[in-house]
Amino acid sequence: MTFAEAQACHARLAEQIRVHDRAYYVLARPVIGDAEYDRLYRELADLELQFPALVTPDSPTQRVGGQPLGEFRPVAHRQPMMSLDNTYSIGELREFVERVQRLAPGEKLDWLVEPKVDGVAVSLTYKEGRLALGATRGDGTTGDDITANLKTIRSLPLRLAGDPREWPALLEVRGEVYLPRAGFEKLNADRVAAGEEPFANPRNAAAGSLKQLDPRIVAQRPLDIVLYGIGALEGAAPPPTQAEALEWLGRFGLKRPEMTWHCGSFEELEAAIAELDAARRGFACETDGAVIKLNRLALRDRIGATAKAPRWAIAYKYAPEQAQTRLRNILIQVGRTGALTPVADLEPVFLAGSTISRATLHNEDELRRKDIRIGDMVVIEKAGEVIPAVVGVVRDRRTGRENPFRFPAQCPECGSSVARESGATAEDAGVIWRCPNPDCPAQIRGRIEHWCSRGAMDIEGAGEVLVAQLVKAGLAHDVADLYRLNLLEVASLERMGGKSAQNFLEGVEASKKRDLWRLLFGLGILHVGAGVAKALGRRFGSLDEVRQATLAELTQADEIGEVIALSVMKWMGNPRHQQLIERLRQAGLNFQSALRAPNAAPGGLAGKTFVLTGALASMTREQAAARIESLGGKVSSSVSRKTDYVVAGAEAGSKLEKARALGVAVLDEKAFLALGPSE
Ligand code: IVH
Repeated sequence: MTFAEAQACHARLAEQIRVHDRAYYVLARPVIGDAEYDRLYRELADLELQFPALVTPDSPTQRVGGQPLGEFRPVAHRQPMMSLDNTYSIGELREFVERVQRLAPGEKLDWLVEPKVDGVAVSLTYKEGRLALGATRGDGTTGDDITANLKTIRSLPLRLAGDPREWPALLEVRGEVYLPRAGFEKLNADRVAAGEEPFANPRNAAAGSLKQLDPRIVAQRPLDIVLYGIGALEGAAPPPTQAEALEWLGRFGLKRPEMTWHCGSFEELEAAIAELDAARRGFACETDGAVIKLNRLALRDRIGATAKAPRWAIAYKYAPEQAQTRLRNILIQVGRTGALTPVADLEPVFLAGSTISRATLHNEDELRRKDIRIGDMVVIEKAGEVIPAVVGVVRDRRTGRENPFRFPAQCPECGSSVARESGATAEDAGVIWRCPNPDCPAQIRGRIEHWCSRGAMDIEGAGEVLVAQLVKAGLAHDVADLYRLNLLEVASLERMGGKSAQNFLEGVEASKKRDLWRLLFGLGILHVGAGVAKALGRRFGSLDEVRQATLAELTQADEIGEVIALSVMKWMGNPRHQQLIERLRQAGLNFQSALRAPNAAPGGLAGKTFVLTGALASMTREQAAARIESLGGKVSSSVSRKTDYVVAGAEAGSKLEKARALGVAVLDEKAFLALGPSE
């Protein structure tokens, strides 16, 4: 294939992928299946491997890329990013409408009502249709350059859709990045399983994700975006109204708000707000209010803004679902990683469809900040949170008999002195107390439960109760002990029949054959959730390869950055854990990975056959051969249909001709040097 042919083929594939991305992620109307999509994507990626010059920043393959950043670069917004005044009251909303009317006397006002998405405000800059910059709001004038993170959002076009002749020379669009509810729940479940602090709500999760310096971590968070405004605009006339602006942005493939209402009177505004309230529970994103915007853009300019917020818009916020109840006690739960979590023991109360008697108090800092005391009347809320949270105290109801809670200095399970550990990530830095004793019964139970759980080694019948009994009876101290249990021991536990004991032991036996990723996940290494464990399983053939891997080798696995790699290395380096692994090996557990991709050798060239021809400028032929082999490839002397690549230097002769005749990929020196890891 000539370069020009490759270029045409690349443009066609990239466009097809963009169309399908839009159909799937923006319009939620997929046209092709996953397998077909993957085929297109692979074809594009292969073509780029062959012709690295085709890789442009807006190629669909470039969503997750680049190295982790040291810090975010500050960027100035072309137009300030303002915030909104907000209100919880319909009376104030009426005053707002009257105020705007006074500022535009004699004008017939019309409004657009949009959902107020509870996420993180961002600004995107497209230059000549290409995404050039993505930034946070920051202080409204200057934000952080988070382009690499935003590119991972699949519904965000890296290149605008529609007719390029209609693309503005420069377009600044404003919107909100959010984590859909389902993604939030899954992320939190994964975080808990990986020994990390769950996020309090989807907005914190979105904000925490966008703050990550490693785009590969962001890529694992299923973030989404909605666009609702235009900032700076050059080379195109702005649409005259908000409704038309959204329509116009939509034509460029930018995702619009889920629903909007065009209203001509206050009564219509009230009705729209009520309709949105009823509809928002079914939205994928957490929606905490309605944004009411003057529809005509020219009128907005006349009305202007205060220093902080426009005068032509307001956010009406829905009151979160709350209830009041008495805090009977504060319990401390000790998790698998030793983390101590305060939990509210409440007088049961009905809230948003269920009876609540437990709510999270998050951590000690939260308890102090809210000055929550045992015996207090507290307000609990379910606002996007999966677990209800205590939001505050009803001070007027204090009697003076409430008791301030002292966070225990000792682990309530084993009595060890607890330590306030600096978190491994910015998201949970320094707020968690941990029990440092690895022999703490709560931690042992937690580790064994996690090992047996469905997502990990999937051992039938190993519920909370059985695990607690095994630990209490001294039969299991760690997961390797499970493989030494006999029928008599298990059957002699309280309420354990012979049949269930038998089933459990069969489950234990069956777990010996589980794939490596389940075992890695089951070990409970900090930051190694199921997704990371699978990435390790795809990269490495066995547990021993993972143990021997260097930092550089670990970070070459998809989705694995330095924080995770260091955590794996630390875990593997602990002599206790090394002994555990040896005992698991002796028990006959499978340490091999069935996920291991056949061509995923360190350099990614495994199984690929190369033929060298002609003279390379930067290295000898021997050096080139050594490079190929070090990346896992093979070097052969003659070209055949089985050859994957011919590397052609200056004055290449018959081998090059033969490669062309057989349709074998030809790499020039630059393309050859671009293969493999980029140091
Ligand atoms: S318009 C100058 N529209 O809510 C007007 N904002 O509380 C700027 N938000 O800063 C905002 N949904 O981050 C607008 N449909 C929507 C919105 C929305 C959510 C956020 C935005 C804003 C904050 C104000």
